[in-house]
Amino acid sequence: MSDLELGALAADIAREAGELAQRRRSEGVSLAATKSTLADIVTDADREVERLIRDRLRAERPDDGFLGEETGADCGRSGLTWVVDPIDGTVNYAHGIAAYSVSIAVVQGEPHPEAWRGVAAAVCAPALGELFTAVRGEGARLDGARLSVSTEVPAGALLGTGFGYDPATHDGDLAMVRRVMTMARDLRRMGSAAIDLSYVAAGRLDGFFERGLNPWDFAAGAILVQEAGGKVSRLERETARPMLIAGGATVHERLRALVTGEGPDA
Ligand code: IPD
Repeated sequence: MSDLELGALAADIAREAGELAQRRRSEGVSLAATKSTLADIVTDADREVERLIRDRLRAERPDDGFLGEETGADCGRSGLTWVVDPIDGTVNYAHGIAAYSVSIAVVQGEPHPEAWRGVAAAVCAPALGELFTAVRGEGARLDGARLSVSTEVPAGALLGTGFGYDPATHDGDLAMVRRVMTMARDLRRMGSAAIDLSYVAAGRLDGFFERGLNPWDFAAGAILVQEAGGKVSRLERETARPMLIAGGATVHERLRALVTGEGPDA
């Protein structure tokens, strides 16, 4: 399959998975379990949607690897891996807030974010009626229209961020927010990193930063940002909770200086 065909498959499955998530949401959400902390929840729908995605990929791409939030990793033989968050923004989903998404990336190389190269991505936000897609070398799109990251931020950057589920990390994250606010017009905490990154790709947000994201939270969004002309870095300084930074070149550099405490803006 060509990269474009892989992208079309990602988009098709993300659309179908998004419809299932939205249908289940309208029927009422049942909490299946909590994970790392009380705030870290999984619903029956997360599991069912991941099953649908995994089954479709198994049928269409039996030699590819899989890395999913709910069902873990399977090594493949083709050198490609599908990195999947069935519902990114599960807390929003459980609370009836529309900012949740299905996030699907296909990557090439070792199935580790430092080693892989993004091939194609799809982020479907069914309750918002939007499908973001990207294919390497072919750009990023929203419902077919080409996307670019923002380049000028004369009034300060509109930034997105998120917080991990572990309350022990909140003080550090809030201290980071205080530093970063010096370059911000304002800050959004939408609750789905995949949507945040899609919005950076679309130029709606000028930048995004968050510590401790899992690969499935950002794999698709990172491809979108890069294909929209932006930069994405994962800083491993705090190795247990690497910091993801994304934005156009200027915002990305200023964010990096502020979060690492290095450079003139820090
Ligand atoms: C979460 C969302 C949220 C981010 C959390 C993630 P999940 O993913 O992306 O925006 O702040 O760090 O864990 O658990 O809803 O798939």
